[in-house]
Amino acid sequence: MLCLVLLLANCSDNAGKQSEAAKADSIASCSKPLNPNGDSELAVLMREMMSSASNLREMVKQGQLPERFPEEFLKIHTAKPTDSDTKKASFEGFANNYISNLHALYASPKEDLSKNYNAVINACASCHSQHCPGPLKAINKLKIE
Ligand code: HEC
Repeated sequence: MLCLVLLLANCSDNAGKQSEAAKADSIASCSKPLNPNGDSELAVLMREMMSSASNLREMVKQGQLPERFPEEFLKIHTAKPTDSDTKKASFEGFANNYISNLHALYASPKEDLSKNYNAVINACASCHSQHCPGPLKAINKLKIE
């Protein structure tokens, strides 16, 4: 019953919310039903990582980087996932791999930007192949050919 009320509340919400939902659909969450308690901290963070990566991709293609390292993505270590057993032992290793590749990208000489950018995207993909295969296709599309 509570779910129904929430659903109805969602439907009558503004168009912004709806396009947000459409966006979430197109990047496919982890093949789990949407969380009735709202999106987890980790899912929200991931969506920011996703949209930031597509901006980053455009910049790297032009040989540029944002001015500052995205400190907020360090929250990957502490953000609560939808499912508490998501953060199995291997999660931390994949998260460290992602963060260290991100540091390497921000320290990268210009000629290696694309290569180091792709290493970051590979780090997204390797965690996802273990923990959340849903968005893999969208993630792989972020690579620079
Ligand atoms: C250490 C593992 C790990 C890394 C690295 C990682 N992800 Fe995720 N990602 C997850 C998990 C786990 C979820 C599910 C979160 C949840 O449901 O709480 C997720 C969810 C997502 C989602 C779906 C969010 C939603 O709306 O439910 C997208 C999109 C995503 N990640 C993109 C990315 C991108 C892009 C990167 C790299 C920039 C990345 N991920 C790096 C583990 C990871």
